[in-house]
Amino acid sequence: MTDRSRRPFIVGTGIAGLYVALRVRELGLKPVLLTKARLEESNTRYAQGGIAAAIGADDSPRLHLEDTLRAGGDLVDRTAAKILTEEAPLRIADLVRYGVPFDTIEGQIQLGREAAHSRSRILHAGGDATGLSIEETIRQRVLDLGVEVRERCVLRALRPLAAGVIEATVSNAEGGETETLDAAPVVLASGGAGSLFRQSSNPPVATGDGMAIAFRAGALLTDMEFVQFHPTTFCREGAPRFLITEALRGEGAVLLNEAGERFMPDVHPDAELAPRDVVARAIVAEIERSGAPCVYLDATRVPRDRLYARFPSVSRFLAAFGLDLARDRIPVAPAAHYTVGGVATDHEARTSIPGLYAVGEVACTGVHGANRLGSNSLLEGLVFGEHAARQLVHPAPGGPAMPARRLVLAWPPGSGWAGSDDDLQAIKDGLWEFVGIVRSAAGLQEAIGLLERIGRRSEPSDPSKPPSDVANAALTGWLIAEAALARTESRGAHFRQDWPRPRAVWNRHLGLLAAAAVRRDRTKGRRRSRPAAPKPRR
Ligand code: FUM
Repeated sequence: MTDRSRRPFIVGTGIAGLYVALRVRELGLKPVLLTKARLEESNTRYAQGGIAAAIGADDSPRLHLEDTLRAGGDLVDRTAAKILTEEAPLRIADLVRYGVPFDTIEGQIQLGREAAHSRSRILHAGGDATGLSIEETIRQRVLDLGVEVRERCVLRALRPLAAGVIEATVSNAEGGETETLDAAPVVLASGGAGSLFRQSSNPPVATGDGMAIAFRAGALLTDMEFVQFHPTTFCREGAPRFLITEALRGEGAVLLNEAGERFMPDVHPDAELAPRDVVARAIVAEIERSGAPCVYLDATRVPRDRLYARFPSVSRFLAAFGLDLARDRIPVAPAAHYTVGGVATDHEARTSIPGLYAVGEVACTGVHGANRLGSNSLLEGLVFGEHAARQLVHPAPGGPAMPARRLVLAWPPGSGWAGSDDDLQAIKDGLWEFVGIVRSAAGLQEAIGLLERIGRRSEPSDPSKPPSDVANAALTGWLIAEAALARTESRGAHFRQDWPRPRAVWNRHLGLLAAAAVRRDRTKGRRRSRPAAPKPRR
């Protein structure tokens, strides 16, 4: 029996949070939607390329599944990927029903091509304004259904209580007055941690705080070492790292080095449409070789009308810098884009804590393995959002399996000072320098030391006090760095200079647990210290 008086708290208003709120409301519950910013602010609205679904005549969910498995470096959870690819057409039909204005040609939805997809299966809306179009449509529907929304309401802490309910502590955006909400199921849909890196395609809200808060509460996190770097973001001193969508390369744009030569054909048989990690590393190598700050995207061979119609947002952005896709080479360089790991869930969005669910970029179902296939992320929010909504209405016990490898980590207690903007900048610089596209043990250790120093300063000394934004940023960054140090191999989005190849011993997920939580619940796994780093082998 469903208890209709339960009001789930949904944290985050990207596609995952909005979709869960919408579906839960349609299924009869009255959710409360919390966002630390304004309702419309999230990573979703900046998604350009689109949303993948096997709806073309030459396509099938099986082909979409195979591409997802191939991109994920042997770490994809096959069942999760099967769910994702098989349910994609159903969720697209829902979006059409809600009124998302997908671009069409002669009455048929247009399908674009992106890297590592074997078929054209990327739906888009408003040309390159896909995320914005979906977000606006779902948001309006959420408002029409009268869902209660609390803006500028920042989640600070979670405390699991008995009977599958969670106590949530929130504050206003300035970190002032805190408030403890009524105990309820909580859905984390708070997004990824891309903006913790100095160069990022993400908006400032993507600080991975949900991951830090879940970790402190005792939730299992997995695959935190896998951070995807997008190869092509706008690169000009003082300008934001605006995404220059991969779909441009899907339309025939090519990458040129400082000398005006293509370099990707020498790197990979798929050239500019090679997997993202391959393109990103090739660009870094070109930048290091030439000493220039960027490479160039040349779309001048794509017909002018097509460029303006298909990429209006990119065209508008570039025009503000005096650049024209149809005429100019666009300076681009990689930037942090997507957090593959996160709060571990099963296929029904259940975390290791009863009553705590996670969906979208904050979550890790294992669906992306070690590297996400482009345009599978909006889809993930919808597909697993639907599963989460059904669980909230008809809860059943479950949760993620404990990975064969796990680290039990002790985050240092703090002195209680909230931390400063300089600390936040130091975190971003440290993550970019040492936990970026090319990593090594020495650099990762450097980052861990830096993040622990900032953690010691910024974490509350009294554990009952809610942590600051800086403390959360330091903790999430530290979890990424610790996981990256432990994974002594290169796979997917994680590249170690000192371990440049995949290793069979690492064909498994890595779980992270808080030592304090393990002590609190000794039945949940044995305590283990960080494994000694074996000697690098080339
Ligand atoms: O290039 C892009 O439009 C990115 C798409 C994605 O990250 O899924």
